[in-house]
Amino acid sequence: MGDDDVELEARLAEQDVFEPSEAFVEQANVADDAIYEEFEENWPECWQAAADLLSWDDDYDTVLDDSNPPFYEWFTGGELNASANCLDRHLDERGDEAAIEWVGEPVEEDDRTYTYAELHREVNEFAAALRDLGVGEDDVVTMYMPMIPELPIAMLACARIGAPHSVVFAGFSADALATRMNAADSEYLITCDGYYRRGDPLDHLQKANEGLAGVDHEVEATVVVDRLGPNGDGFGHDLKGTQHDYGDLVAANQGAEVDPVARDAEDMLFLMYTSGTTGQPKGVKHTTGGYLSWAAWTSQAVLDIEPDDTYFCSADIGWITGHSYIVYGPLALGTTTVMYEGTPDHPDKDRLWQIVDEYEATQLYTAPTAIRAFMKWGSEYPERHDLSSLRLLGTVGEPINPRAWKWYYKHIGNEQCPIVDTWWQTETGGMMVTTLPGVKDMKPGSAGPPLPGVDARIVDTEGEEVGAGRAGYLTVQKPWPGMLRTLYRNDERYIEEYWAEYSDTDSDDPDEWVYFPEDGAKIDDDGYITVLGRVDDVINVSGHRLGTMEIESAIVGVEGVAEAAVVGGDHEVKGEAVYAYVITEEGHAGDDDLRERIVAGVENAIGPIARPEQVIFTPELPKTRSGKIMRRLLEDIANGEELGDTSTLRNPEIVEEIRVQVQD
Ligand code: WTA
Repeated sequence: MGDDDVELEARLAEQDVFEPSEAFVEQANVADDAIYEEFEENWPECWQAAADLLSWDDDYDTVLDDSNPPFYEWFTGGELNASANCLDRHLDERGDEAAIEWVGEPVEEDDRTYTYAELHREVNEFAAALRDLGVGEDDVVTMYMPMIPELPIAMLACARIGAPHSVVFAGFSADALATRMNAADSEYLITCDGYYRRGDPLDHLQKANEGLAGVDHEVEATVVVDRLGPNGDGFGHDLKGTQHDYGDLVAANQGAEVDPVARDAEDMLFLMYTSGTTGQPKGVKHTTGGYLSWAAWTSQAVLDIEPDDTYFCSADIGWITGHSYIVYGPLALGTTTVMYEGTPDHPDKDRLWQIVDEYEATQLYTAPTAIRAFMKWGSEYPERHDLSSLRLLGTVGEPINPRAWKWYYKHIGNEQCPIVDTWWQTETGGMMVTTLPGVKDMKPGSAGPPLPGVDARIVDTEGEEVGAGRAGYLTVQKPWPGMLRTLYRNDERYIEEYWAEYSDTDSDDPDEWVYFPEDGAKIDDDGYITVLGRVDDVINVSGHRLGTMEIESAIVGVEGVAEAAVVGGDHEVKGEAVYAYVITEEGHAGDDDLRERIVAGVENAIGPIARPEQVIFTPELPKTRSGKIMRRLLEDIANGEELGDTSTLRNPEIVEEIRVQVQD
């Protein structure tokens, strides 16, 4: 521990409640505590406040249609276009202001600024090109792209013509791309030749092509962005057949204007595949009116975004955080959003602070895993830069431990910036549980109360509310505009995954329907919620959501593997890491060769983020007498914890054997 840390520890360790500074409160977008009561009394009409942040082509006639739960509809009868809301309506006042500040890798000369006028122009040109390629309203367009400006441009171009997008994280494997294109019957792909990681060019088109080979239907067109320029020639790609160069398409449509298609509020804006309990990823469906208003309202109320801000979210657009809080929320509000292509440690560990300094960022929204890494690297890195432009800090993706919270508060926020610890999910579309920064005190480690108008409660297995201090399950008892509408083409699974646990599924009374996000949580006397983590078979590695079943099926697909169980073990920086317990097939040795093939198998099936931290070979897995794998026990072993009662096991002796191996 450095001197700094010692001092921080001494002064902040005892403090468990922090007030927002007066300077922040004075200028905050929401500063009146009365909003909680107002929204509660006026629910669901309170959500007109969110809809009012958007420009509607046609007014909605109903705020909430809850006649067929859990298939709720919001702002029905209304029509709008997301791209017009993010671009066109800002042109008069903010046409020459930066919409996107793109910070590229590896060379600074790569940085690009898109003003609202420029972004509008390129979105129109590309929208025209997509139409030429045959993309029609409601055709799902898949994007397999890293953090390059053409990604938000493509998303907005699709939104403009009413084609839902499905963005697949660029770090996912070719197989993962194929699975998602197949699940959505997507006939269009937008990708790029490659991109930089820590200064080195990566061949992305190779992966995209492999993915395309696994698509089970005809793909009408693939658009390839030339990100690497002449440097990419080393990969030797030729575009052939239905593959088109993005630059050529845009050039051919120079100056084209495409009228934004008026979409029904409930029309799909995008699909996002996320991990669940079973191996098959879930296609979360978000709509135009509800989602966009939720992204905009939470950006304004929680991130305190105003048009003049330069707001920086370090997430990847390939995840929901980037959708809601790099693209849609900030652009709907007409602010400047900073988009960074690279990693926080290249060329040096002060990269994010250098960006905050250079662009005078006013907000920073990042993940606890990143903060833990910054902490480990030391405060000398932020100290190299002037961070005084920052007004607010945020975190998302996993619980933040009080020590990391306090480090962030002191070393990045200089004890002046409120921190919003925002709990939400791909499915919720946007933030649900967090402090309103100009209204509520902060308690490190606890996300805070539910947002006004959000009815989140902690219940026991029977659905009864539990008292303060006791652990239970987080539920949301009333619908909200940003919620997912269903799982794409799978209404049954939608009910099963999110509602069946606590609802009377035969009832058409909305009060009988309760949303279950699969998180454990507890609440304190002030109504602050501390989220404890997933209670299903999903693990959270560096804020990335991974299904253990997906990883297990990748491992079982490796030759020589008979059975596998995957759990999340604690990890200092990543939060959780993948531990794989593997039984080999007869005649196969559990050796380094197999271990390497298992790691490669997981990388191929999902991507490097799912890479096992440890592969542990074992002759058996601890199972109950009814044959269920005891995952809790495997987690305890991974974490080096005391093991509880193993007497219910069919094979208790195996536990000791596994433990010895993990400790080696
Ligand atoms: C976890 C990311 C504690 C939680 C936006 C949730 C959190 C899952 C927090 C969703 C937080 C997210 N505190 N846990 N502030 N934010 N989580 O879909 O387990 O990638 O269910 O959405 O992340 O992950 P997803």
